[in-house]
Amino acid sequence: MTKYVIHGGKPLYGEVEISGAKNAAVAIIPATLLVDGVCRIENIPQISDVTLLLTILKEMGAKIRTVNKHTMDIDCSGIMSEEGPYELMRKIRASYYLIGAMLGRFGSSKVAMPGGCDFGVRPIDQHIKGFSAMGASVEVKNGLICSSVSGGRLKGANVYLDVVSVGATMNIMIAAALAEGRTVIENAAKEPHIVDLANFLNSMGADIMGAGTDVIKINGVKRMKGGSYSIIPDQIEAGTYIAATAAAGGNVLVKNVIPKHLDCITVKFEEMGVNFENREDAILVKSEGRLSGTNVKTMPYPGFPTDMQPQIAVSLSIASGTSVITEGVWDNRYKYVDELRRMGAEIQVDGKIAVIQGVQRLTGAPIKSCDLRAGAAMVIAGLCASGTTEVEEVYHIERGYEEFVGKLRKLGADIIGVEEDNSPYTEVKEILAI
Ligand code: EPU
Repeated sequence: MTKYVIHGGKPLYGEVEISGAKNAAVAIIPATLLVDGVCRIENIPQISDVTLLLTILKEMGAKIRTVNKHTMDIDCSGIMSEEGPYELMRKIRASYYLIGAMLGRFGSSKVAMPGGCDFGVRPIDQHIKGFSAMGASVEVKNGLICSSVSGGRLKGANVYLDVVSVGATMNIMIAAALAEGRTVIENAAKEPHIVDLANFLNSMGADIMGAGTDVIKINGVKRMKGGSYSIIPDQIEAGTYIAATAAAGGNVLVKNVIPKHLDCITVKFEEMGVNFENREDAILVKSEGRLSGTNVKTMPYPGFPTDMQPQIAVSLSIASGTSVITEGVWDNRYKYVDELRRMGAEIQVDGKIAVIQGVQRLTGAPIKSCDLRAGAAMVIAGLCASGTTEVEEVYHIERGYEEFVGKLRKLGADIIGVEEDNSPYTEVKEILAI
């Protein structure tokens, strides 16, 4: 789709099924490169970032068989090259996991500088620090990150991360799985998808301990064989439906979730007056009446996730009183604020701090998605606003949300996706094969 058209002001009612976690899938799929045999991966979300990564692996020579909508058999044993398709790789941030996977598998890699959402400088120095500690030399040549290790096999090492980085933790874990000896990552990130990647690698024969704590120990193994693995539910997709229900009002059962992973999100919405009931693998969200403002600081897990910051900002923009958001992870994640202002939100941004003066109601307007989560937040704004909202550049949203329009329509939202032939984004969509 090129844009979504929303007639807002309707509360949400019913059930929504959460898909597999994007940020686990985009690491697990490249990590199948390490495995000598077929990996059956279940609960793969149908999103364009996943399509792109599967296309990259296919072009490199992987055999990929679709078992059903969310299950794939991936066999990378036939891949002989340590270089992927440049144009596709540079479209996606997570192509950086191909560096760790190829270094682990071939002892060398050539990967395009990663793309992805634009919220300030996105360095990968901590990834490189890890690979270098394991004996690799890394340099940037003609837009490619070229790395290699003499002798062809990385050596286990101690790596202390200077910043808590999800990507560096996962990439070093991937690279270390087949290295010689033990790697210890200190000051590691603890997100649920880090534990999921470790569980995937272990189920294929790796030897990883401590994922989910800030010290992860990886004993390198010589070979990983095939097996089956099911990806965890997406914490941020679930959080997005919680934020949508909070802002639009209503009563929604969010199904196929791990409630523990949502505690860091629900605690803030509870402060705003939203009610929750935890079930075994679902959470019931009830929101009535006006929300109350609160203060939020984003932090690495188990703190409030930065990937929920734009969505909670929409809820706070219609809550009573003044709220303050402090962005604790990224330098520049408030580009969407100008779009929300078009809808009547009163938000002042100073560096990493946003001060929100709640208004009674947002009003529909033509707005655009600035990035994946900001795009989802614009849809939430449209759902709770009066009148019509048109959200453009929705290819950002489709990178990470499976059937966003369809799932919202099932909850009673008045939203449709519109395809425009002459859209300037057609080329991007063709490249992404959406
Ligand atoms: N950082 C460095 N050096 C590095 C790596 C990171 O200084 O080598 C800094 C970053 O600049 C940032 C902080 O460390 O300030 C955290 O970055 P992190 O490495 O954790 O982010 P990432 O791995 O690039 C992943 C998710 C993001 C999510 C962040 C934080 C994927 C593909 N992306 O990015 O997800 O915001 O972790 O949780 O897993 C999204 O899904 O919308 C999204 C952007």
